[in-house]
Amino acid sequence: MMRVGVLISGRGSNLQSLIDACQAGSLPIEIVTVISNVAGVQGLERAEAAGISNQVIDHRGFGGREAFEDAVNDALLEAGADFVCMAGFMRLLTDGFVGKWLDRLINIHPSLLPAFKGLDTHQRAIEAGVRFTGCTVHFVRPAMDDGPIIVQAAVPIAGHDTPETLAARVLAEEHRIYPLALRLIAEGRVRVDGARVIVDGAEAPSEVLINPPG
Ligand code: GRF
Repeated sequence: MMRVGVLISGRGSNLQSLIDACQAGSLPIEIVTVISNVAGVQGLERAEAAGISNQVIDHRGFGGREAFEDAVNDALLEAGADFVCMAGFMRLLTDGFVGKWLDRLINIHPSLLPAFKGLDTHQRAIEAGVRFTGCTVHFVRPAMDDGPIIVQAAVPIAGHDTPETLAARVLAEEHRIYPLALRLIAEGRVRVDGARVIVDGAEAPSEVLINPPG
C-alpha cells in the first residue's frame, strides 16, 4: 500500500476528499501524515478527526526555503511516506525538494493547465472570456504549476458566473479527480513519459466530466 504524506496550508477540502475516498474503500493508500505550514487551519482539524498524524512546520521558523524543506522532508521520511500530495499547499518548492520526490509528488490546481498558472485562477478565467476552465492533477516540476498532467476535468463558464460560483463548481470536480488520479497511481496504471503521462486501462480516456452551470 502506498504511504502518502499530504501537504496543506488551509481549508483542506481536497485532503478531505482523499480521506473520504480511503474510508469508502475506493482509494487503496494510507495517509501517514498531514503537514501544514500554517497553524490552526481547518485541514489539521480534518486530519485530527480522521485520526491521522498531523503536524505544523511553519516556514517562518527557518533560515530559508531549503531549511524549511529539509524539515518537511525529514517529517515525511519519519512518517514513512513514499509519496506526497500537495493539497492547497501554498509554498513554492525548490528544485532540490522536487528532485528528491520526482514522480512521487503531485499537486492539484484549479485551472486547465497550462492555462492560468498561479493565483486567482477563476477571476482571471472569467476576465479572459474563456468558455471552459476546470482543474488539473499533475506531477510536480520545479516551475510553478508545471509538470506532466494526470487527470483534468472541464467546467463550462456561464455569463453570470462570479469567481465564487465558478470556484464552487470547479472545487466539486477537484474533489472527484484528486482521489481518482491518486487511485490510478496507486494501482500502478500511471507512467511518466517525458512531458506526458500515459494511463493504462480503458477507463482513463473517458474520465472527463463536463458539468453544466446551474
Ligand atoms: C484548491 O482550489 C486547490 O486546487 C488549490 O488550492 C485550493 C485548496 O483548497 N491548489 P482546499 O484547502 O483543498 O480546500
